[in-house]
Amino acid sequence: MCGIVGIVSEKRDVAESLLEGLKRLEYRGYDSAGIATLIDGKLAMRRATGKLKALSDKLESDPLRGHVGIGHTRWATHGRPSEDNAHPHSSEKVALVHNGIIENYRDLRHALEAKGHVFRSETDTESIAHLITDFLNMGMTPQEATAAALPCLDGAFALAVLFQDHNNLLIGARRGSPLAIGYGEGEMYLGSDALALAPMTNRITYLEEGDWVEITAESAIIHDKHGDIAIRAIHETGLSALEIGKGTYRHYMLKEIFEQPVVIGDALETMTFGDYQIALPDLPFDWKNIRRLSIVACGTAYYAGMTARYWFEQLAGLPTDFDVASEYRYRGALVDPSDVMIVISQSGETADSLAALRYAKERGQKIVSVVNVQHSTIARESDAIVPSLCGPEISVASTKAFTSQLIVLLCMALQAGEKRGFLSTDKATEIVDALRGLPSKMNDVLRDDNRLQEVAQNIATTKAIFYLGRGLMYPLALEGALKLKEISYIHAEGYPAGELKHGPLALVDEHMPVVVLAPYDSLFEKTSSNVQEIVARGGRIHLFTDKVGHANIGAGITWSLVLPAIHEAIAPILYAAPLQLLAYYTALAKGTDVDHPRNLAKSVTVE
Ligand code: M6R
Repeated sequence: MCGIVGIVSEKRDVAESLLEGLKRLEYRGYDSAGIATLIDGKLAMRRATGKLKALSDKLESDPLRGHVGIGHTRWATHGRPSEDNAHPHSSEKVALVHNGIIENYRDLRHALEAKGHVFRSETDTESIAHLITDFLNMGMTPQEATAAALPCLDGAFALAVLFQDHNNLLIGARRGSPLAIGYGEGEMYLGSDALALAPMTNRITYLEEGDWVEITAESAIIHDKHGDIAIRAIHETGLSALEIGKGTYRHYMLKEIFEQPVVIGDALETMTFGDYQIALPDLPFDWKNIRRLSIVACGTAYYAGMTARYWFEQLAGLPTDFDVASEYRYRGALVDPSDVMIVISQSGETADSLAALRYAKERGQKIVSVVNVQHSTIARESDAIVPSLCGPEISVASTKAFTSQLIVLLCMALQAGEKRGFLSTDKATEIVDALRGLPSKMNDVLRDDNRLQEVAQNIATTKAIFYLGRGLMYPLALEGALKLKEISYIHAEGYPAGELKHGPLALVDEHMPVVVLAPYDSLFEKTSSNVQEIVARGGRIHLFTDKVGHANIGAGITWSLVLPAIHEAIAPILYAAPLQLLAYYTALAKGTDVDHPRNLAKSVTVE
């Protein structure tokens, strides 16, 4: 979850470009940052706690020269955020940056301390610096020392290593955490992702599991996990330096929320044709032959998967399990090789989702991933990819990735329903038709956000809040609550509306706002009864509904937002937008750091 970047150049100082790369990786972690370069062969370093701005200020007052360097932005795992624990970590001979967790670091540390190595941090990473140094002390070259050190490490890592006195060398290595090589003119790069390198190059090679690479300003030599020279493809990414700007928006989150109508429109253009036909990439199985589908994901992507379960069961008659990825393999999931798994992930790098994928794949299941980042590890390890293609999502709080995942998953369910002979043409046409009207409805909702801004001022004063929904609105209630807690730090719980009376209703009083998602659908009457139960106990209902729902909900509602009427099957996609805005404006009212919520990182590449 940390971000790493490295540059080796023939002729220019690299610190400024390293900092620019780190800015693009700050979404991966932001509790400290650091840069190391070689100045006339000697290691030099600047590190600072807090966001990148602190490092940037330090570099301004105390610049770093050097044609070769590495940089890091940290999400702390071992050792609190502090300057000593910030990367790069160094010995007298190497400096390195690391993304991942070294599980056997205590054993390594004890052994190396016994040999006289002096540790200065509480991190797992520092043991790698001393381990490589130990091999260098035996007379090995940097390449030999790295090759000797890597098999001693248990756990996950992406590494970039700088060696004293080697002005034209960087070594990178990957096991379990992503690392890409970038090709430039008279210089070469390493980065956690292609986005970090986009201002410098769009020619990228993604290292495979177990690979390590020696790069100079002119070339890259890749070794596979057996030490043999490996040839890996170079991809043109299509990412540009411009793509990650905030434009006129105050935050990435707001920009990404407002991008949704266009993102959805583009996705529908690619995935639907004719009255109701769905165009998806070829899948390595026949929907007709599947008996059971299993969906795994984390966080927001998990709630997209939970929504999709309703669609696959209701529209395709396909029994569907869904699991939070971090639990999947630990519950000892029974995997039938003739079934299919869908992994959903914006980044395509989430460690728990990847581990679930591998668990199912090892047991013979076909894997389809719904990913946004096309060359990510999850994408590469899947049998097929259905891209969600919402463009770079920078804000830690996921918004457009969620709605674009929903679009893809709904299209998959429609295709499955048609191929399995479960879904009538009339119903498919009705839904595709409704989908095509969605971008303009969402645009209307987004442009009319004054009432959300107002109510957010009240929500911001509360300590706890419930989000309720039934049917397809239940996963969205969970997602709405996640969005609020993640960026406003208000305790928010999503519940199925019918479950409240089985315990949580005890929490409801006149101070408790309760957000209810209740379009006038087939479950409206049931939800409406639950609303009255809450009103009777003094709860303050904040209702998201449509015109008919508003007219039929009954008395006692504290606040309501009337949304355009929408087909029941796609209502969660539309209703996601005002919930995202509610979370955003509440966070704004509380003055939190919207794009960089405390303790979090966007891409969670550790278990
Ligand atoms: O990249 P992924 O979609 O695999 O990430 C999964 C979760 O970490 C992510 O959705 C997280 O819950 C978001 N911060 C929620 O806004």
